[in-house]
Amino acid sequence: MRQRLRATGPLRGTVQVPGDKSISHRSLICNALAAGEAQVRGFLDGDDCLHTLSILQALGVDVERDGTSLRIRSPGRAGLRTSDALLDCGNSGTTMRLMCGLLAGLPGDSQLDGDDSLRSRPMARVLHPLAEMGAQVAGEGEEMRAPLRISGAPLRPFRGRMRVPSAQVKSSILLAALAADGVSTIEEIAPTRDHTEIMLRAMGAEIETEGPLVRLTPGAELQPVDIDVPGDPSAAAFWLVAGAITPGSEILLPNVCMNPTRTGALDVLRAMGAQIEERNHRAAGGETVADLTVRGGALRGVIIEGDMVPRGIDELPVLAIAAAVAEGPSEIRGAGELRVKESDRIDATARLLRAHGAGVDERPDGMHIDGGARLQAGSVDSGGDHRLAMAAAVAAMAVGPAGEAVSTLEGADAVAVSYPGFWRDLVQLAGPQALA
Ligand code: S3P
Repeated sequence: MRQRLRATGPLRGTVQVPGDKSISHRSLICNALAAGEAQVRGFLDGDDCLHTLSILQALGVDVERDGTSLRIRSPGRAGLRTSDALLDCGNSGTTMRLMCGLLAGLPGDSQLDGDDSLRSRPMARVLHPLAEMGAQVAGEGEEMRAPLRISGAPLRPFRGRMRVPSAQVKSSILLAALAADGVSTIEEIAPTRDHTEIMLRAMGAEIETEGPLVRLTPGAELQPVDIDVPGDPSAAAFWLVAGAITPGSEILLPNVCMNPTRTGALDVLRAMGAQIEERNHRAAGGETVADLTVRGGALRGVIIEGDMVPRGIDELPVLAIAAAVAEGPSEIRGAGELRVKESDRIDATARLLRAHGAGVDERPDGMHIDGGARLQAGSVDSGGDHRLAMAAAVAAMAVGPAGEAVSTLEGADAVAVSYPGFWRDLVQLAGPQALA
């Protein structure tokens, strides 16, 4: 689908961003391992999470969905059944990698596949540790790309250091570790999102964290847990950047997840001088949430590196747009993981910035952004990458002067992967004339 976009000036209003994608996947997968019934509210009804839902139904979990509310009834891990059916993960790396961990601990054979983007992504990072634990795994080539085969077996505990900073890999190992015959210890090389640990602990699992170590002792019987999914900080980041770079804007984003492993974009924007207020901190779904208000203003360049990268990995494309209009240069370093996301997001982000008239130099593990750009209307193709599509919309909203030039975005429908209401919310903030 092609979307025409026109900048309309200040963005004003309130948007409730959809439920967090990572927590929505885990609300299904973790509850599938516990015998009994759980309610989930605020579930993200995007394509990625719906793939996780269908796969669990194929394994024998009864899930009733009414919009963003779920009722999950599971026989528990011992009652789940693998089948000959090909398990389709669509575009979702989280679905594929976390399901590998769950399936490694179930008797029987399974096959997993996905779309062309997912088929191009490396799966060795999860299959190698699962094979070390005793699962039989197969994928295409050295990087073990999909389609994948996985046969569960009695599992040994995992003891080792992760090679990439990835919550998907950590979570996959933890899900398998629940079925292992001893204590697993995972050493992280950088702190990554810990929603799996939080949720499994709330269900009664024995999980301790000590610095970079995550230790899981299997054996506890998991209890189902009801979850109010907090708003997705990675979705909120699009409006935080759009509001921060458009003078006169004021956007309220209630109920956003403030887990410190997810607030890298907030920290980066504040380091750039963005005006973002946090109010009303409270607990939801085992996580902390807050209401955020962003106001437009001048930004300065920033260096994004170290822990900031895994804490804001999905937000880097849209942060690059903030960097493009900021005063002075910016750098993104140590973010080679961006090359193996839904698309090569270093290359795609650099092309997006150039299409809108910003100066950028690609690096193997990041980019240098000149800063000081006055964005022009441009033509961008999302290449099917949801975050690129939304970042392109944010760039188009910041084209100056407002109301004149029209930008075009091919592949605009990709937003449905993680933010099905994105265009509705954009109109809410920018007015109907924004969709030119
Ligand atoms: C996710 C982890 C991150 C992130 C992805 C969701 C998760 O991926 O990019 O959108 O839910 O665990 P990696 O684990 O590959 O860094």
